[in-house]
Parts: sequence; structure tokens; C-alpha cells
Amino acid sequence: MIKIDSVSKTFGSGATGLTDISLVVERGEFVFLVGPTGSGKTTLFRLLIRDMLPTKGLIHVGDFDLGKLPNKKIPHLRKKVGVVFQDLKLLMDRTIFENTMLPLEVAGVDNLGAKKRVEELLSQINIETHAHKFPVQLSGGELQRAAIARALVLSPDILLADEPTGNLDPETSKGIMKLLQEINEKGTTVVMATHNVEIVNTLKKRVVTLEKGKLIRDEKKGKYGAS
Ligand SMILES: Nc1ncnc2c1ncn2[C@@H]1O[C@H](COP(=O)(O)OP(=O)(O)OP(=O)(O)O)[C@@H](O)[C@H]1O
Ligand SMILES: [Mg+2]
Repeated sequence: MIKIDSVSKTFGSGATGLTDISLVVERGEFVFLVGPTGSGKTTLFRLLIRDMLPTKGLIHVGDFDLGKLPNKKIPHLRKKVGVVFQDLKLLMDRTIFENTMLPLEVAGVDNLGAKKRVEELLSQINIETHAHKFPVQLSGGELQRAAIARALVLSPDILLADEPTGNLDPETSKGIMKLLQEINEKGTTVVMATHNVEIVNTLKKRVVTLEKGKLIRDEKKGKYGAS
């Protein structure tokens, strides 16, 4: 499903994002990606959606060989991989409904079908009461839910969630985790980058640890920082 083969990423400035990472994530897995700030988690996500190319190594996502993927086929990849960005990237001048609808419009889904899909999803994610509000009118947890809805609207095979519980209180974080687990149980592969020690240690999922751009640990039922 995701196969990362000896991947390194160096930025133009000379900064190192990742060094010689190899990792396989099978279909249907739930993986926590942990590591200190600057260890390369977001860099890895950006590579997986072909936001940029690695300096070295191969990346396969589903049937796509990202090094060989022509730019015009990137939208095909993005349909399969939903992302909840660390900074959410919701459009401030559009309502939650409109933000969630946007990927469907870009994909050319007919208006009526798209509206029905957005209504269904927003109620499944439990933010339907906020559908016609703008992002500034929502709380942090509500915004995270909105970003998750937008990432899921095209029913991706893979969901990448970058710090989806950042700055949320423990109860709201629990709600987000329940949602991500339900999505995973329905078959979506989930990779979640997080600093949240308690969540990682409670859920006993696979934990992949990065440190200074290197993959230093990969444990089946792992803990944060344990070995
Ligand atoms: N566009 C860029 N240009 C130059 N350096 C970058 C760029 N993006 C990331 N880096 C560097 O690459 C390293 C990894 O950054 P990355 O954002 O992947 O870390 P992270 O693990 O997501 O951190 P955090 O937990 O704070 O989100 C850092 O040293 C960062 O400064
Ligand atoms: Mg990051």
C-alpha cells in the first residue's frame, strides 16, 4: 500500500528533512508517526502526496510510483490519499460545507451528488450543526473535525493526519481518536503524526519513531519513546 524505499530528502537550503528512510505500511493499518519537532514527520507526509520529490529513493503509494508520476496525474494520487494538514489549510472565506465540497467540485462530481455526500459526511463526523459557519466561528476541535471531513470526502484509501489532536483538550482529543479509529475500522489506512504521549501509549498501535530525519524505531504495539 505505502512503500518507502531508502528515501532521503534534503532541502535547497541544505537542511535535511529525512535520511535513508525505509518503511512499508500495509492496507488497513493504523500507524502512529512520532518524533521530536523537526524530526521529519510532515516532510514524510508531503512526499507521500507528491507535494515534493525525494532527493533519493523510491516511494510507492497504491499503484503509483511517485517518482514516475506525471504532474497531470497527481490529482489521481490525491483522490486516494486524504490529508489533515498540521495547519488545517481550511479556506477562511468559505463555510465548512463549502470547504468540504471543494474536492468533489474539483473532481467533477455533479452538484446534487456532491451536496448529498457532504451532508452525509458532516453528520457522520458530527459537525453538521456547524456546516454553514465559517472557520473563524468554530473551536479548535470543530475545525479539526472539519479538516477530517474534507480529507475524507473523496473516500480515500489512505488518511494522513498531521497532529490532528494538537492543542485540543483530552476529551476532544479522545473524540477525534474515536473518529479516526472508526474510519480505520471501515478499511481506511491511517497514518497519524503526533506528539501526544498519552494517546500513543493508550492505544497500543504500531509506532514508527523518527529522530533527526532517521527512522530509529518501528514497534508493532508500541509506546511513545519506549524501546
Ligand atoms: N521547506 C523547507 N525548507 C527547508 N527546510 C525544511 C523545509 N521543511 C522542513 N524543513 C526542515 O526539515 C526538518 C523536518 O521538518 P518537518 O516539518 O518534517 O518536522 P516535523 O517532524 O513535522 O516537526 P513538528 O513536530 O514540529 O511538526 C526540520 O529541520 C525543518 O526545519
Ligand atoms: Mg510537522
